[in-house]
Amino acid sequence: MSRAAPPVREARVRALAKINLDLRVLGKRPDGYHELRTVFQTISLSDTIRIAFTPSRETRVELNDPLRIPGNLALQAAELVLDAARTRGRVAIGLTKRIPMGAGLGGGSSDAAAVLLALPVLAGFALPLPRVCELAAALGSDVPFFLLGGTAAGVGRGGELFPLPDRPSPAALLVAPGLHVSTPEAYRRLSPRLTTESQQNKIFSFQSLAWDGGVSKAACNDFEAVVFQQYPQLARLKRRLQKAGAFQVLMTGSGSAIFGLFRTDAEACRARSGLAGENALRISLVTRARYRSLWWRALGQHIDQKIWPPRSRYAR
Ligand code: C5P
Repeated sequence: MSRAAPPVREARVRALAKINLDLRVLGKRPDGYHELRTVFQTISLSDTIRIAFTPSRETRVELNDPLRIPGNLALQAAELVLDAARTRGRVAIGLTKRIPMGAGLGGGSSDAAAVLLALPVLAGFALPLPRVCELAAALGSDVPFFLLGGTAAGVGRGGELFPLPDRPSPAALLVAPGLHVSTPEAYRRLSPRLTTESQQNKIFSFQSLAWDGGVSKAACNDFEAVVFQQYPQLARLKRRLQKAGAFQVLMTGSGSAIFGLFRTDAEACRARSGLAGENALRISLVTRARYRSLWWRALGQHIDQKIWPPRSRYAR
């Protein structure tokens, strides 16, 4: 009699993009990275990831990535998870990209975090959150944020995270001009401008912004000075959004995408029509509560309880 094929456990999850509602770079650290103060925010724009896990004696991780992204972090995340859990099996990942790359929207980091959250659930083991955060930080500075979502203050390399309160989303537009900005290059250009005297000031103004929940006219992104110098069209785009009535307009991460927050939907719609020819999208800011409920729904049949991080029903 032939033995039944091992069960395949599958899920289709959304990996959301982020914007930085504020981003200050304090200086270079002994490890070569830069010390940050930032406010991360998940947004409604997302990639879709299908993940299938089949128990097997051999480990094989396959990625269906039509864009053939070099060094894809989702693949690395799957290998790290199986290694950390000392589990073998076949993993098939299918990626549908919608988040523009090199735009400061954290698409690759979010894809990786999605695998870190979903694969343990499908494979039936529990990795404690601190361990998953450690794996996430090894993959990239922005990856840990996507394990938590919502609005969060990020310090250190960006992976030390503290929750900020959920609140209703203002009307928002995101313009992705299709320019690919290199993050290491942006840091290299910014680094010589950072002086120790300005740090104290930055910390206090960041703190006051964080107490306001991250949305404020006083918000800033230190990368704008160097990236706008290289791409003056981005400075022009920012001015257009400001003129269209946005009360907060900032580049996200090291660029190139720019977002604008508006007081009303009507204002955001008008601004979008005025940006004909630009890739301007209506987005909403996704709260932590919504982020979690999207995850619980996506993993529905594989979990028993609504707890965070999602916990496998197959885990012993
Ligand atoms: O951590 P991640 O691989 O995403 O970082 C990409 C590059 O950005 C790093 O190689 C480093 O040059 C720079 N970086 C930095 N300080 C940070 C985060 C990133 O210098 N806090």
